[in-house]
Amino acid sequence: MNWRSDALLPVPSSATGRTRLLSANWKMNHNHLEAIATVERLYRVLRPEQFRYAELSIHPPFVDLRSLQLLFESDRMPFVLGAQNCHQEEGGAFTGEVSAPMLAKLGVGYVIVGHSERRRLYGESVELVAAKAAAVVRSGMTPIVCVGETLQERESDATAAVIVAQLEAVVASIPADSLSKLVVAYEPVWAIGSGQPASPEDAAKAASIIRETVVIRGGDRAANQVRVQYGGSVNAMNASAFMAAPGIDGLLVGTASLDPEGYAQLIKDA
Ligand code: 13P
Repeated sequence: MNWRSDALLPVPSSATGRTRLLSANWKMNHNHLEAIATVERLYRVLRPEQFRYAELSIHPPFVDLRSLQLLFESDRMPFVLGAQNCHQEEGGAFTGEVSAPMLAKLGVGYVIVGHSERRRLYGESVELVAAKAAAVVRSGMTPIVCVGETLQERESDATAAVIVAQLEAVVASIPADSLSKLVVAYEPVWAIGSGQPASPEDAAKAASIIRETVVIRGGDRAANQVRVQYGGSVNAMNASAFMAAPGIDGLLVGTASLDPEGYAQLIKDA
C-alpha cells in the first residue's frame, strides 16, 4: 500500500463534513520494542477502508516516538503519530520535560493536553493546560484537549460548568484563526478505566456544550469544524454507539487500544 495514495486518505463524514479521528492513548504502556510489534500487528489486520473511515492517531510514551516515526515512514503506514503531553516552553532548564518543537520535529501531528490523569496526579491547572495547548498550536500541531467532570461534580450538576471552565481557558489561549483545528475529548473522569462508560446521550450533550463554548470566540465556522471525541471505557462493543452520537467525531481509547487485534476490531466496529 502506498500511504500517500488518495485511497488511504480519510474521507470526511458526509453528514458533518468533519474528518473522524480515532486516537489510541497507550499511557505508560509498551516499550519501544513492544510499540513496534503492536503497530505492525495492528497494520496487518486493518483494511484500507479503516484508514478511509478515520484518521488513526497513536499516542505512545515519548521513548517510542522515534521508533514509530521510522516505522510509519519506512513501511508507509498511514497512522498519525501522537504524543500524550508536552511542556509549555520551547526549551530551557526543565529537567525531564519534552517541548512541543521537539515533538513537531519527530513528525507528531496530535498532542493530548490536560488529560485528567495529568490534572489529577500532577496538579496541572486550567491555566497550565491552556499554555500547553497554545504551545502545541505554535509548533504547527493539533492539541487534543481533554475535558470532563469527576463523579462528585456530576452528582452536584456541575458537568457543564466544569467543561466550560476547562475549555474557556484553552480557547482564550489560542489564536482565533486556529480554533477550527482544535480537537476536544470529552472524558468524564469517572468513566476512565472504570468499565463504566458515559452514555452516548451524555457525550452528545458534552459535544454541544463544547461547541457553544467555541462559538463565543471562534464563531459558527470554528464551532462547526472543531472535532469532539468521546473517551472513557470505550470498547469494541460500544464504539459505534458513541460514533453515532450527534456531534461526536471520534474516540480517545485507553485500555482497549493496547491489544492490536482487539483495537483493530474496535476500529472496524466503530
Ligand atoms: P480507558 O479507555 O482505559 O477508559 O481510558 C480512557 C482514556 O483515558 C483515554 O485517554
